[in-house]
Amino acid sequence: MADQRPIGIFDSGVGGLTVLRAIREQLPEEPTIYLADLYHFPYGPRYQDEVRGFAFDIIRYLESRDVKLVVIACNTATAAALNQARELFEVPLVGVIRPGAQAAVDTTKNNRIGVIATEGATRSQEYLHAIKELDPMVGVYQKACPELVDIVESGQADTPYAESVLRRDLADIVRIGADTLILGCTHYPLLKPAIERVYPKAFVLVDSATTTASKVVRHLDPGGGRPGHEVLVTAVPEHFNEIASNLFGETIEAEEVRIWEEQKAPT
Ligand code: DGL
Repeated sequence: MADQRPIGIFDSGVGGLTVLRAIREQLPEEPTIYLADLYHFPYGPRYQDEVRGFAFDIIRYLESRDVKLVVIACNTATAAALNQARELFEVPLVGVIRPGAQAAVDTTKNNRIGVIATEGATRSQEYLHAIKELDPMVGVYQKACPELVDIVESGQADTPYAESVLRRDLADIVRIGADTLILGCTHYPLLKPAIERVYPKAFVLVDSATTTASKVVRHLDPGGGRPGHEVLVTAVPEHFNEIASNLFGETIEAEEVRIWEEQKAPT
């Protein structure tokens, strides 16, 4: 019997939608529940323990919604929570760091990989470890780019302001001559057009969305039938619905859910 249960996917905001989109492309028959933790956005500047706590609560919530698999579609939460969550939860868990690291190692020709991510993901050094484990000869150049997350979440990804921040934030990685750039935050793929404009053809851009989706395909007991897609948020969505609708080319209206006591009741 096919497993009809949905796949659960979460992030702090719109970023994980890039992973959801790749999953929906590769698995059009699968129902999904996407949750954006806007109540705690952004995750990047927070302590790992705190992010881990949020991630555990969300995984618990998604388990209560009877998902068959949870994708942590956030690098910061993957770095903070994936390993411990695997010991704690029964539901299978997929993170976004290893798939991105693998794709970058497969891509680089000059063995120089740049990684841009949030402060939390950068501090965790998870990309460095994942890449070095795959190939110790590869040089890794990391840069925390917290401003880029706010730019994307506030719907400014395609603006001259985004370009000026990218010009500054990527300058060192360009100077070092990395031929591959990992977009180590699921918000960053939305900046691809701006990156291409600022540093055209400087590097191959690698994000975890497609590779994570391929991993989900490999591990999944496929469902089938008519898929439903739920999109949930933990706080009032300001630009979320607009960005989500643009990304999927369909109207998306997120529904507010309450996971934490202190959260305001959904309006
Ligand atoms: N999208 C998340 C990531 O991949 C983080 C954004 C945030 O700082 O909340 O790391």
